[in-house]
Amino acid sequence: MRYTSIITLVILASTTLSSAQFDDMGLSQSCMDEAQKLIGSQEINACIPISSLASLFTGSQKGDKEAVMKTVADSICSLPKCSDSLIASTQKDFRAACQQDLKANNDVVTLIDVAISLYSPSRDSMCFKNSTDGYCLIESYTAAKQIFDNAPKDQSPILTFVGAPKEQVCTPCNKAIANTFNNYQKQHPEAFTDIKDYNDKDVENAKSALTGKCGESFL
Ligand SMILES: *[C@@H]1O[C@H](CO)[C@@H](O)[C@H](O)[C@H]1NC(C)=O
Repeated sequence: MRYTSIITLVILASTTLSSAQFDDMGLSQSCMDEAQKLIGSQEINACIPISSLASLFTGSQKGDKEAVMKTVADSICSLPKCSDSLIASTQKDFRAACQQDLKANNDVVTLIDVAISLYSPSRDSMCFKNSTDGYCLIESYTAAKQIFDNAPKDQSPILTFVGAPKEQVCTPCNKAIANTFNNYQKQHPEAFTDIKDYNDKDVENAKSALTGKCGESFL
């Protein structure tokens, strides 16, 4: 379920950005300035509503994760998708300003960098709806949570996944999301290999587990 966890990155990154408490995070001045610039950018807020998400999260964060995901998805999916060129220039500026922080493996900066790299497939996946007009993201998250909650704690995610019921794994939502990431990876392999914890073998294993379980035409 690596795919599902990647999607939640976007939510986490917006939350982190919108909490705007960079003072405590040990960021370099240039990186902090760049983060403030991102939050205030009209161009970015036209496609990722960072400032309106900020007002969501500055109060006490009520509601369960599913409710938070729905609010975030509603606000992101109601706006047009950011252009590839805006994302590319944003990432270039961010990496330049936060070079030192990335080198030092600062968690927040690394998270934001991954979220920018995977913005396109994550945004698409976040906005898919199922047959009853619910968000696929939430359907898949709920199913994955159930699968992993019921698995032995030390079992490998791949094994857990292979052992899960087909009806929970081979859903139209999971198919749409898995193919979105798979296609993006084919077109932009560097978006994945740039990620520090990325493991090609894990992803290949997950793909074979998926097609083994759901059939070759699933991916
Ligand atoms: C569609 O997704 C929602 C969550 O967004 C879920 O509650 C609902 O059960 C899903 N519908 C189907 C048919 O799986």
